[in-house]
Amino acid sequence: MKAILIKGGRVIDPKTEVDDILDILITGNKISKIDKEIRKNDAQKINAKGKIVCPGFIDLHCHLRDPGRPDEETIESGSESAIAGGFTTICCMPNTEPAIDNEGIVNYIYKEAARANLCRVFPIGAITKNREGKEITEFGELVNAGVRGFSDDGDVVADGNVFRHALEYSKTFDVPIFEHPIDKYLAQDGLMNEGFVSTRLGMTGSPVIAEEVIVARDLLLAKFTGARLHLCHISTKGAVELIREAKKKGVKVTCETCPHYFFFNDEVLESFGTSYKVNPPIRSEQDRQAIIKGLRDNTIDCIATDHAPHCQAEKELEFANAPFGMIGFETALSLIIKELVNKEKFDWIKILEKLTVNPAKILKEKLGVIKQGAVADLTIFDPKKKWKFTSNTIKSKSKNTPFLNKELIGKTIGVIVDGEIKYYTED
Ligand code: DOR
Ligand code: ZN
Repeated sequence: MKAILIKGGRVIDPKTEVDDILDILITGNKISKIDKEIRKNDAQKINAKGKIVCPGFIDLHCHLRDPGRPDEETIESGSESAIAGGFTTICCMPNTEPAIDNEGIVNYIYKEAARANLCRVFPIGAITKNREGKEITEFGELVNAGVRGFSDDGDVVADGNVFRHALEYSKTFDVPIFEHPIDKYLAQDGLMNEGFVSTRLGMTGSPVIAEEVIVARDLLLAKFTGARLHLCHISTKGAVELIREAKKKGVKVTCETCPHYFFFNDEVLESFGTSYKVNPPIRSEQDRQAIIKGLRDNTIDCIATDHAPHCQAEKELEFANAPFGMIGFETALSLIIKELVNKEKFDWIKILEKLTVNPAKILKEKLGVIKQGAVADLTIFDPKKKWKFTSNTIKSKSKNTPFLNKELIGKTIGVIVDGEIKYYTED
């Protein structure tokens, strides 16, 4: 395999705290040299001048619809969408049809991911059989097959006793439990955040307390069991505060938020656009500000996409009947740049920590780092490039995004996975 030489990029690596103009040489699947000026005549060269070169992004939370709804997304189309967004590793949630609750489905996902041969795809196994919240799956069998964590995502594990035992079993295998913290009884059939805007619009609301009750319960159970808890798509001020306090007390908890929770507040629902219908819902401005604060003080460890493809026909139903979710791989970086980097003045090390080294740590993978000898999973992006997100350019099979035909800033230019160029574009 020909060596790859990335020339003149701004290399930013949060783990080794590097931020400098450097060349990177890749030989085989490894980073073989990082230096000011590397010369290698027979290498394939990538000009990264004016671009940022960083560890490949790792998404802890996405939905590929395979098996079940290949019309909405397949492992292959999801992988294509992921690399276009700069993600070299993605974790797919088990709310497929059937659910990822046995070895056969895990094997199928790995087989399809290998066939697509684009990014790393790590399945998250279901906590309970068929995600029904009752009977715990065979954790040992699923871990052996390659799941990197357990979740009933899409649904909370409502039964505290089942959740306690899931945490205890997960400890045996040293894998995290990914919880979707929403009390379904408190959330009722809420279509959006419960508050002034929902009242004004006459829509049923899902209150912040539905999230916070489960976060509080889970933090207590994580402390009680000593297991590793990862709280998914945190969206409320109260949840951030609970997690902040629990971390101070040494609870083994990590969490993520998604770009739509720091980019939007619930006033966008005034359009009744179904692409804004997500679960948990887009919250109030006060919550949005608290999410940004949580990202800033590292209470929130990761930014995940919750990429949730849905077909047009279903998203075109009236608001009450449309499904929850928006696609997210291809817009995540732009939303981060616009809101967190350009507006909120986050530094790149902090941002990239949440996209690379922190998720790698949660997965216990030796990924998310640029150093000599490390696996060459790298993302190159132009933080200033303006581009338009159109239905022709979307790589996902689904187009359910509020950013359709919008101008975005910041674009992935190149992606290297395991030492191979999987994505490269000059426009
Ligand atoms: O918005 C969401 N979409 N939230 C979820 O919990 C599930 C996901 C999906 O699978 O579409
Ligand atoms: Zn979820």
